[in-house]
Amino acid sequence: MTIIDGKLISQQIKDELKEKTALLKEKGVEVTLAVILVGEDPASQVYVRNKKKACEYIGYRSLSYELPATTSQEELLKLIDELNNRKDVDGILVQMPVPEHINEKAVIDAIDPAKDVDGFHPMNVGALCIGEKGFVSCTPAGVIQLLKRGLPSDYSISGKECVIVGRSNIVGKPMSLLMLRENATVTVAHSRTKNLEEVCKRADILIAAVGRAGMITADHVKEGAVVIDVGINRNADGKLCGDVLYDEVKDKAFAITPVPGGVGPMTIAMLMNNCYEAALMHNADLLK
Ligand code: GUN
Repeated sequence: MTIIDGKLISQQIKDELKEKTALLKEKGVEVTLAVILVGEDPASQVYVRNKKKACEYIGYRSLSYELPATTSQEELLKLIDELNNRKDVDGILVQMPVPEHINEKAVIDAIDPAKDVDGFHPMNVGALCIGEKGFVSCTPAGVIQLLKRGLPSDYSISGKECVIVGRSNIVGKPMSLLMLRENATVTVAHSRTKNLEEVCKRADILIAAVGRAGMITADHVKEGAVVIDVGINRNADGKLCGDVLYDEVKDKAFAITPVPGGVGPMTIAMLMNNCYEAALMHNADLLK
């Protein structure tokens, strides 16, 4: 059984970006990410801090906007508009969730799709859907990298039965489109799926993205399957755990991602990759 090491693979990706970023700098291009946090949600503060730290590590410039929870939607949209118009800003990220009085969709729609490094804008989601270029949501993009870099080099996604449990806009749905792009046969299961165990047992690649601790048991897993756990939950003891009951599933799986240290670290690595791609796109003339 292989434990797919997301910490290691995310580090490799960040180191590759660090090298490429130094080369860009020599050509006069500095990659810049603007990070906006509204309010003081402690989990969001940690995420934002980690994103800024990753920028610093790779050599990006990060602009930080930490706004009070009382910020109006109008004020936030005005800031986004300013950042959309700034030539020196490549990526714009508004940390979710935003306070209740702000409409999340209005915020996502306001970001210039060419700076939407989260890949949440309908234009980018649509581009993914029809196989055009665009920014891809970071967590599902990270799962693809785990499969490509974390498994033996002769492992191929093409033709595999892939079952995704969960249909969220930021993980389940884009994940299904990415796996389809890799030529997997894709099933998306969800809370209304009948006979979930049976459906999951068909999977050569099982991707759990529901957000319920330990809901995928050994009875959901075919012998020799690859199991990817996107869940980040806390169990009754307050310990971080995934959607997969790791201890009983690992003995059946061909490969599995741990929580923490699996999918989690990949999200930021892929965000950093999107920022790099944004800077290449924005400086295409200069880099010709
Ligand atoms: N909140 C939780 N995950 C994410 C993410 O990937 N991007 C943003 N902007 N907010 C989040």
